[in-house]
Amino acid sequence: MSAAMPFTQEQINPLQSIEQWEEDVLTRYPEHTYPAKTKEAYRNYDNPERDTVREFYRLNHKYQTYDFVLEKKKEFLQFNRKKLKVWEAMEFLNTLVDDSDPDIELDQLQHLLQTAEAIRADGHPDWFILTGFIHDMGKVLCLFGEPQWAVVGDTFPVGCAHSDKIVYPEYFAANPDTYDERYNTKYGVYEHGCGLKNVHMSWGHDEYLYHIVKDYLPEPALYMIRYHSFYSQHREHAYEHLMDDHDREMFEWVNKFNPYDLYSKSPKPPVVSELKPYYEALIAKYLPAEICL
Ligand SMILES: [Fe+2]
Ligand SMILES: [Fe+2]
Repeated sequence: MSAAMPFTQEQINPLQSIEQWEEDVLTRYPEHTYPAKTKEAYRNYDNPERDTVREFYRLNHKYQTYDFVLEKKKEFLQFNRKKLKVWEAMEFLNTLVDDSDPDIELDQLQHLLQTAEAIRADGHPDWFILTGFIHDMGKVLCLFGEPQWAVVGDTFPVGCAHSDKIVYPEYFAANPDTYDERYNTKYGVYEHGCGLKNVHMSWGHDEYLYHIVKDYLPEPALYMIRYHSFYSQHREHAYEHLMDDHDREMFEWVNKFNPYDLYSKSPKPPVVSELKPYYEALIAKYLPAEICL
């Protein structure tokens, strides 16, 4: 964190592990889950984990301001922290496993392999499979000491009014942009149909990874990576007014990707050593030998 924004340990890590956020997304969009869980099983509001998730969103909505995003872009888009092979970056990401959370059985690599294998099983093109495999690689931000709410969580445009379709919208009452006339109107600093390429999203693993791979993957893959946590648009269509026709076309891919991200938990975990050669070859086909984080 920059010295200007000191956070306590509780503010940096409100969740027991960052998977708790994705588990909570499933409670909002529980259809098609595998293995099937009833809505009731998900909606256990007495669950203390819900308080943890609420606290996570409270901090996310309070601190993700327009200025915060610009600051984070300046800080992280220099890529001067680490140079790694993609597979090494995956192993680095996997050191995030938190065994203090008994409900999370999957490590990061398992989630990525299961997402990718489900895409592969459906016969999609190889760049789509690769996208499934790397889509959460940006979570390495956590390993650089970043607060969980600046790594995971639903993303949303900053610099314009917050939609009430964003999860826990009431927490935006604590966000200074809510009271800033430059940022609190429907369009804020943007114009009608300006296209998402002109819109700053709240900062997290999606935007970070997009910048790491933007020169190497086909555009649909880049949209999937950059907007996969933008639930208020791809599920709720709350920001149509900022999208252009090209965004709308590309969001069909984002929509195609989302179920693989959410619902690809497989009862038989993939064996990493068996799959590694296939994914190493895919990485070599599209990505440079080393990437800068
Ligand atoms: Fe993600
Ligand atoms: Fe994911």
